[in-house]
Amino acid sequence: TWNMGSFAKEQIAKIRERVGDKKVLCGVSGGVDSSVVATLLAEAIGDKLVSVFVDNGLLRANEREQVEAMFKSRNVPLITVDASEKFLSRLAGVSDPEKKRKIIGETFIEVFDEEAKKHNGIQFLAQGTLYTDVIESVSVKGPSKTIKSHHNVGGLPDWMSFELIEPLREIFKDEVRILGAELGLPKDMLSRHPFPGPGLAIRIMGEVTKEDLVLLRAADVIMLEELRATGYYEKTWQAFTVLLNVKSVGVMGDNRTYDNTICVRIVDATDGMTATFAHIPHTILENISRRIINEVSGINRVVYDISSKPPATIEWE
Ligand code: XMP
Repeated sequence: TWNMGSFAKEQIAKIRERVGDKKVLCGVSGGVDSSVVATLLAEAIGDKLVSVFVDNGLLRANEREQVEAMFKSRNVPLITVDASEKFLSRLAGVSDPEKKRKIIGETFIEVFDEEAKKHNGIQFLAQGTLYTDVIESVSVKGPSKTIKSHHNVGGLPDWMSFELIEPLREIFKDEVRILGAELGLPKDMLSRHPFPGPGLAIRIMGEVTKEDLVLLRAADVIMLEELRATGYYEKTWQAFTVLLNVKSVGVMGDNRTYDNTICVRIVDATDGMTATFAHIPHTILENISRRIINEVSGINRVVYDISSKPPATIEWE
């Protein structure tokens, strides 16, 4: 197997030589791949790295703070652009899943480009492309149907013509985690589940509102706490909650309620192309359900998604 220590050293030397005194732009999502790329670049070129994290208002509770703290502790430069209002105002009134994705993708490019233009001397763009992405983008070419338009696959438009730096192009996800550990990234960062670019927008069915984001974040935190406490976070590929656009009747004390439904989605997978719903012990599901209903006002019902992919997809939109 590959020795990630020497792989890191080689990549750092290569990047240093290629970049010279130019600057490198790097988009950071908070996920494993882009964090490893940014850390590697910071080691190689220090403050010639311009890494940009866009807060689109669709992040999970405390996510922005966690990413900022992690980068700060590693001395990796990071610029956070708070564009939440821009994203949320453009999403107002939009309920079609593909329209939502398109708006988020376009707004991201716009915000990212605006930030890039503020810096002189940028010649390179660093991306966390993995070997699996390389293979997939080859096999995806041709007349295929779009199931969902993933906005971060396919890269940026031509007019952002930078030379690409893709240090993870030859390695797999598990190797990225080893590389990250080699670079000193914390374990809880390296074991993070994948999180989609469009964020919580595709986990709120229909129109995205600030109120719904508050509900969903609260439910999500509880579900994650219960999974972490029982060791199931590490054992599963992805775990999240979805706010359904469905109200149902319930009873709280002596009163009738008519409130929202949260769906818990936890899946096992090795690459996300296929997935099965995770066979989580019922006692854990019971705790998740009870806590969400008791602690999040506005939710009176929790359901568990028992569909696998295919034919269902992992995300609901
Ligand atoms: P689906 O829902 O298509 O998801 O079964 C497969 C995997 O991809 C993630 N996903 C995305 N990731 N941008 C991303 O970066 C996107 O637009 C996007 N849509 C889905 C999903 O979370 C799962 O891991």
